[in-house]
Amino acid sequence: MPTTPAPAPDAAEQRSTVRALLRLWPYVRPVRARLGTAAVIAILASCVGLVIPLVLKWMVDGPVADGDPAGVWLGALYLLLLGVAEALLFGLRRWLVARPLAGVEAGMRADLYRHLQRLPVAFHDRWASGQLLSRGTTDLMLLRMFLAFPLTFLLVNGVTILIGVGIMLVQDWTLGLVILGPAVPVMITCGIFEKKYSAVARRAQDQVGDLTTVVEESVLGIRIIKGFGRHRSQARAFHELSHTLRGTELRKARLLAAIWAVIVTLPEVAIGAALVVGAVQVSDGALSAGTLVAFLSTALALRWPVESIGFLLAMSQEAATATDRYFEVMDAEVESGLAAGSRAAGAARTGGGSTSQAVQAPGEARLPAPAAGLRFEHVRFRYPDAAPDSPPLLTDVTLHIRPGESMALVGATGSGKTTLTALVPRLHEVTGGRITLDGEDITALPREELRARVAVAFEEPTLFSATVGANVLMGAGPDAGDEELDRALAVAQADFVHGLPEGTRTQVGEQGLSLSGGQRQRLALARAVVGRPRFLVLDDPLSALDVHTEAAVEAALRDVLADTTALIVAHRPSTVLLADRVALLSEGRIAAVGTHHELLRTSPEYAHLMSGLDGHVNAEGFQEGDGR
Ligand SMILES: Nc1ncnc2c1ncn2[C@@H]1O[C@H](COP(=O)(O)OP(=O)(O)O)[C@@H](O)[C@H]1O
Ligand SMILES: [Mg+2]
Repeated sequence: MPTTPAPAPDAAEQRSTVRALLRLWPYVRPVRARLGTAAVIAILASCVGLVIPLVLKWMVDGPVADGDPAGVWLGALYLLLLGVAEALLFGLRRWLVARPLAGVEAGMRADLYRHLQRLPVAFHDRWASGQLLSRGTTDLMLLRMFLAFPLTFLLVNGVTILIGVGIMLVQDWTLGLVILGPAVPVMITCGIFEKKYSAVARRAQDQVGDLTTVVEESVLGIRIIKGFGRHRSQARAFHELSHTLRGTELRKARLLAAIWAVIVTLPEVAIGAALVVGAVQVSDGALSAGTLVAFLSTALALRWPVESIGFLLAMSQEAATATDRYFEVMDAEVESGLAAGSRAAGAARTGGGSTSQAVQAPGEARLPAPAAGLRFEHVRFRYPDAAPDSPPLLTDVTLHIRPGESMALVGATGSGKTTLTALVPRLHEVTGGRITLDGEDITALPREELRARVAVAFEEPTLFSATVGANVLMGAGPDAGDEELDRALAVAQADFVHGLPEGTRTQVGEQGLSLSGGQRQRLALARAVVGRPRFLVLDDPLSALDVHTEAAVEAALRDVLADTTALIVAHRPSTVLLADRVALLSEGRIAAVGTHHELLRTSPEYAHLMSGLDGHVNAEGFQEGDGR
């Protein structure tokens, strides 16, 4: 399984939290008015809370000192009204932000998904799917929570603290200074905390991604795990990862506990000190009792804004990390030549990473190119993540498949046949030379159109959680109907479909695991031919079929292939005989081209491959077991 390129550990520490979070602006912009209003309302609510101590002061120095019960009742009524107003305002704020923020989250998730569909296969080869999954779920949830709370409340609490401290200084500046004493140590602690917490938060979120990968792999590979009795070792691997994650989460909790201790204790001590100093002043007559009450209740009202700073900072850190992780994916380069407006359509076709189906998209109005077939000209290719000193996988592939011709591609396992077929729909980019369709360089064609012209079926047939019919019709334009579907199923000899409980409307399970390998291959083949593509690229599409079904598919394919230019990777002489000519791929180049019988005579390597010595087939075309 590919691993995710993790950033250098210190990169996470050096980046600024604010700069990371600023990247969210394009998503927040549309809801900025609501968020702004909500923040203003929250500040208002906090200020209402700060008025309460002033009413208290008026009560203590006025009606209470004068023994006036009516005044006390009036004061109590004021306090009640203020309390209700504060609660209502906070409620209004919540209501204001809930809906737009759910929208922001959904928008970001949709963007991520769309982007993932447009990223090249090479990207998906490199990234573990669990990492992508966790970015689309956990990280986006963290971001929504950040926008709902810390973003507003860091501002609101900051303003509240400033106003509160102002009020306290006005009441009595010596007491105010006593209260302000812990400010500097608290700020220093916050700074240290932020740095440490950001590194741990990043680690935790990456570990969630790794954990997701293990879960995903074991769900997809449940048959292998059970079949080989690996559930214990798999459970152990999961346990180890979750144990590591638990350790990281505990470290986060310890950091939070430490900052919490400082943030709670120091102000508490300061309030105690202010109480003592204030009480002395009141007994000296230097300060009114009402002022002291007001002062202390203001200080107490500020306790929550100060104490919450710890976890607000923590949430902001996690959100910054989540933003980084989100944009790591969003910053990856998409395939060039996919028009932004048509991305959804293009995305559907590259879905699944390993399967690509052509859709007869209307494309731009182009002059029909003169039929010139499919041409490989000195094609070189190496995988981007291959060892730097290794030779390219394909060194110099030159091959011409004439219009309407079908060419079989034969080569030893690992010789690069699958890779060569993936180059035609540009699932990978050639690193040298060029490939032309009817004389047009495939890199000059819009990807949309390229993939509409070329239909592909791979040896590993990927099906989606949809009906059988929908899976096949993915390969056709939007207006293809039952007629095309039935024709394609007939060509692929997929009559078994009509015997399924609900015919073509039967749902296939995730990845088509409820079907046999041969059945899946036939559906993938039907998908490849349903759109009547001009170019057909089949990577060993019949490998899982029994000899009789294979013969029937071949007979039906002959009709399709008559007017289609096709490149067919084949292992068995029976499949090879279907083709007009055969090309032998060996050591990164086309070593020989000719008919099956010519090559049997002239190429010892070909004769050897076809002789069944490598376990696949014998020269008469009879299967010697599945061979894999
Ligand atoms: N995504 C990839 N990244 C790096 N190397 C790859 C990748 N896919 C295949 N390879 C390597 O390329 C070689 C040819 O693979 P492939 O084209 O599948 O061969 P074939 O289909 O002829 O059996 C193999 O050695 C394989 O390890
Ligand atoms: Mg292969």
